[in-house]
Amino acid sequence: AQVNITHDNSRVNAVLPSGESIEVLLYGATVTSWKDRAGNERLWLSDAAKLDGSKAVRGGIPLVFPVFGTAPDHAATSKLPQHGFARTSIWEFMGSSTSESTGKSDNSVKLDFGLSQSNLTDESKKLWPHPFSLQYSVTLTPDSLGTGMVITNQGDQPFEAQLLMHTYLRVKDITKVSVTGLEESDYVDKVDAAKTKKQSGTVTISGETDRVYTPAKGPSHPVVVSEGGAATFTVVRDNLDDVVVWNPWIEKAAGMGDFEPKDGYKNMICIEAGAVKGWQKLEAGDAFEGAQVISV
Ligand code: BG6
Repeated sequence: AQVNITHDNSRVNAVLPSGESIEVLLYGATVTSWKDRAGNERLWLSDAAKLDGSKAVRGGIPLVFPVFGTAPDHAATSKLPQHGFARTSIWEFMGSSTSESTGKSDNSVKLDFGLSQSNLTDESKKLWPHPFSLQYSVTLTPDSLGTGMVITNQGDQPFEAQLLMHTYLRVKDITKVSVTGLEESDYVDKVDAAKTKKQSGTVTISGETDRVYTPAKGPSHPVVVSEGGAATFTVVRDNLDDVVVWNPWIEKAAGMGDFEPKDGYKNMICIEAGAVKGWQKLEAGDAFEGAQVISV
């Protein structure tokens, strides 16, 4: 059996011989589905997510670039919409490689996507006038999903950017979830006046949670999501120093038109790997690379 890759003008699907699959929308290069071999979804995607390019996708893995949230005090990105334009731009599918074609013995597929200044709408170009390229790869193996980004400054002036992979993980019951790997880490608590706090022990969710952690142990130390004590997802980062933990809980979910079902907050937790504290400064011609691997 071979890896089966299908694509049309709006999305790319890949299925491994062993049955695991992914789907990536060209809109935002958003991973909208990651299924195990039995067809069970591992990512959370809102029933009301817009998949027609009219709004950033609520769920899956939207990409945040070149600004996380909004940055009113950062002149170069202050005019951009929340989380920038990568998640609302139409990316190009650059091709794929499989374990067969690369001679690797593992059963895997890598899908490559690209976005550069020429793909942007005139409006985005005006708001962020820097020649750049993003090369994004999505790698599926039977027991992991990897996402990696290379940002290149194609211009002759420096620019500053932030990057985040806004992963919505699917869980059975948020009240039974615990997140380890963030012990003793500083975080900015966005639901408490952006105060800086220190995590003690594991993270559990019992209300609206919106925190920007800088894990004390560094990117290669895994952040593990467990349910009822059993590990369900292990996230290892490469060169992405920060981890956002987000769950909108009842009221925030109620206020989001594209968040359905309304009690869907019970079935998701966002563990978002990124470089969002401060700015990555890229000199002319420079590149920044960051990646994550989510293992099950
Ligand atoms: C998180 C932010 O990364 O994304 C939250 O920390 C934000 O503050 C959330 O609410 C969702 O953002 P959006 O723009 O997709 O509604």
